[in-house]
Amino acid sequence: MSPEYRVELLNVSKSFGGINALQKVTLKSKPGEIHALVGENGAGKSTLVKILSGACKKDNGIIKIDGVEVEIKNPQDGRKAGIGIIYQEFSLVPDLSVSENIYLHTLSEKKIFMRWQKMNRNANELITSLGFAINPLTKIRDLSIADQQIVEIAKALSENVKILILDEPTAVLAPNETSLLFDVLKRLKQKGVTIIYISHRIEEIFIIADSITVLKDGRVSGCYLVPEINKEDIIKLMIGRKLNAYFPKREIIHGDEIFKVENICVRDKVKNVTFSVHEGEILGITGLVGSGRTETVRAIFSADKKKSGTIRLNGVDLNIASPADAVSSGLGLVPEDRKNQGIILPMSIKCNISLTNLGRLSNKLGFIKNKKENCYTLQLMEKLAIKAESSEVIVSDLSGGNQQKVILAKWLGIDCKVLFLDEPTRGIDVGAKVEIYNLINELAAKGMCIVMISSEILEVMGVCDRILVMKEGAVQDMIEKDEFSVEHILRIAVG
Ligand SMILES: Nc1ncnc2c1ncn2[C@@H]1O[C@H](COP(=O)(O)OP(=O)(O)OP(=O)(O)O)[C@@H](O)[C@H]1O
Ligand SMILES: [Mg+2]
Repeated sequence: MSPEYRVELLNVSKSFGGINALQKVTLKSKPGEIHALVGENGAGKSTLVKILSGACKKDNGIIKIDGVEVEIKNPQDGRKAGIGIIYQEFSLVPDLSVSENIYLHTLSEKKIFMRWQKMNRNANELITSLGFAINPLTKIRDLSIADQQIVEIAKALSENVKILILDEPTAVLAPNETSLLFDVLKRLKQKGVTIIYISHRIEEIFIIADSITVLKDGRVSGCYLVPEINKEDIIKLMIGRKLNAYFPKREIIHGDEIFKVENICVRDKVKNVTFSVHEGEILGITGLVGSGRTETVRAIFSADKKKSGTIRLNGVDLNIASPADAVSSGLGLVPEDRKNQGIILPMSIKCNISLTNLGRLSNKLGFIKNKKENCYTLQLMEKLAIKAESSEVIVSDLSGGNQQKVILAKWLGIDCKVLFLDEPTRGIDVGAKVEIYNLINELAAKGMCIVMISSEILEVMGVCDRILVMKEGAVQDMIEKDEFSVEHILRIAVG
């Protein structure tokens, strides 16, 4: 008789220094089951799956696969045991091609001669079978983040996996891409693959998962079959209290139209984009991944070269030649690709947060006022519920979501007239999302213009006053609050 469970993690514990990341955590999943793993930022989700994949060593506990106890000491052991994992942080090599990345581990293993043509052909087949089209010869750095995610999935599937772990796979995907991914997962499930699925998008659990384990502060706070639980109860198990509103109410007071961009063009990426923002307004920009949202913002900041276009603030044309010019003209940006553009991993939380505010935090001679810096950092850490022992903790030791919060804190504290937020809540847990919306609302109430890019339609609808929908580099429509509806927006975004 075959064993009931494909994978069993029994009483697994792990601490980092003084922090108990996991305390006697048990999770069991059957063959052909999609098991959701949820919890607040820092709850221990990534640590648990890293232990299963061999990327992280457990202190205590037992792992069984098909009823047999196994020792998984490193990622090779994990792969041999049939475990594929897509990490929260991308692990692709930017300068290698798609197919080289997919078969990287075989490059370093056994064979001396690689059959490149075969490798490219296999990579192509794999990606096509996922329902996507990406040239296997393209370098990773030239792909969009969504396409990179697909390559990550292809890489995890390149061997015979029995257990596939996905750590927040949809954080970077648009709704249409997410449903393609779900189709892929359903097919794998039918083949008997066990899938462990981590996500902060709780709605997804009801679409895709069969069972769910909730972690809170490194312990299991609940384990259910999905039909036996609802969204409110999951949130309560995650954050220990009820969440009253997903989108905090605010009084909308708009001043004059103070910011305007006209006819922004970037190669074939951005086509005559024009929009304006009023004082105190929160403008949403949505559209499918690759619709030109990020490219538009990067052009405004001169992070990419624009062919044409004017940018006007308070009636004055801005001459922006570099991102630094943009910032000194009163624009701020929380970038989408925060790992590369937003944060210095080997530095402390405090240093990262105060980096953008050195002016305010230093005295006339340029020395940083320590007390003020501490106070400022702690305030922001508390507001965003950044989970860390102190502000001296090195950012690379934080959980993925807490790293995101540090970058947000860095920018939400600065004085600017127009703040661009590119996917500000990506990877952030439900409770902390509400805190971020509160902060955005506070900034708007002070008269700041906010431009928020988000792929989550419910989020732009809940937070923004107007929504600009982009498609293929051009503005498709500007939607007023009284016309907000998911179907309407999605229809325009898809075209
Ligand atoms: N290498 C490390 N060194 C020190 N502490 C760590 C390390 N990795 C994780 N931690 C700590 O362990 C705890 C759990 O982190 P983990 O990354 O597992 O959280 P998570 O549930 O995946 O959160 P998120 O939703 O933000 O990704 C956190 O307090 C984190 O700071
Ligand atoms: Mg994580």
